[in-house]
Amino acid sequence: MKPLNIGDLKISVPIIQGGMGIGISLSKLASAVANMGGVGIISTVGIGLTRKQTNLGYKKSNIDAIRNEIRKAREMTSGVLGVNIMTVLTNFSDMVKTSIDEGIDIIFSGAGLPLDLPSYMVKGMKTKLVPIVSSGRAANIIAMKWKQNFDYLPDAFVVEGPKAGGHLGFKADALQEVSNRLENLVDEVLKVASELKEKFNKEIPVIAAGGIFTGKDIFQIMKRGAAAVQLGTRFVATEECDASNEFKQAYINASEEDIQIIKSPVGMPGRSIFNRFLKEATEGKRRPAVCKHNCIRSCDSKTTSYCISEALLAAYKGNLDDGFVFVGSNAGRVKEMSTVKEVFTELHDEYQKAK
Ligand SMILES: Cc1cc2nc3c(=O)[nH]c(=O)nc-3n(C[C@H](O)[C@H](O)[C@H](O)COP(=O)(O)O)c2cc1C
Repeated sequence: MKPLNIGDLKISVPIIQGGMGIGISLSKLASAVANMGGVGIISTVGIGLTRKQTNLGYKKSNIDAIRNEIRKAREMTSGVLGVNIMTVLTNFSDMVKTSIDEGIDIIFSGAGLPLDLPSYMVKGMKTKLVPIVSSGRAANIIAMKWKQNFDYLPDAFVVEGPKAGGHLGFKADALQEVSNRLENLVDEVLKVASELKEKFNKEIPVIAAGGIFTGKDIFQIMKRGAAAVQLGTRFVATEECDASNEFKQAYINASEEDIQIIKSPVGMPGRSIFNRFLKEATEGKRRPAVCKHNCIRSCDSKTTSYCISEALLAAYKGNLDDGFVFVGSNAGRVKEMSTVKEVFTELHDEYQKAK
């Protein structure tokens, strides 16, 4: 596979492990992927909640946790590491500043348009800034605003299609539209990147995400022009993944019929394994008594049918009675536990075969 260059940053294998929260991709998974030559991403959402309770409070415990996870990952790899910071987080700025301070290689930011991300740049900073988008239009808006306000352009784009896991950047009724198929979105964003190159002479690689499962999928989307791929679902049922065994086992046990699109308190649809908790939430039986964390800007704690942080935290810890599991559309194809090395080897072999 052709290596990926993001500016002066060299990535020998063009496979990025998508950030997965809460707690699904922390230092262990990220460093394992980076050690294989890909990019390992630490998810920052609710990261402070994944640690032992302290009296630091939500704000400080998150800062402390991201700092620690980056340092732990660095101890385990000399490869390329990134963080994923959703724009809807109330502590977005804490997460960005701390990650830059720790010298993270790449910040990936989506779930909304990260319009002010370059405002956090500091002198001599090496950190690359990569928006996650779900359309050519969003890519163009971000690039134009960044150029206008900060004289800076994105270092790459991740374009995430409707088959991805976690929150989806589409209205629920637009998920099936042909124009929203990943290959069509990749074409749209490639067009924006090529216009930007012509205008401003900056190479902006396009990374495709959402529903890429095999080496053949990687070959086909790269043939279309994507410079790399971002995978989430493929990395969950691995020994190195930071989630509980129950979370991983839910992937192995899931069949296609178990996977459903749900309404998330974040205000976007999400893809998950439907379970009793989600059923009870739709029946109004999981309303939180109080808002404990005030973590998501777009969540209305007075009307929400459940607390997403508490639910994802419970699932991370293995308590699926009080939470649920986010998945990509291919989770039904995950049949057994493996290791990150095995996943890379399989993807590589399948890619060569397709070539
Ligand atoms: C369990 C899970 C949690 C996720 N959490 C996040 C997140 O916190 N932020 C984000 O931008 N994307 C999140 N994603 C999306 C992934 O980073 C990735 O882009 C996507 O899953 C790729 O599609 P795939 O799972 O079909 O490979 C999540 C995905 C999964 C499966």
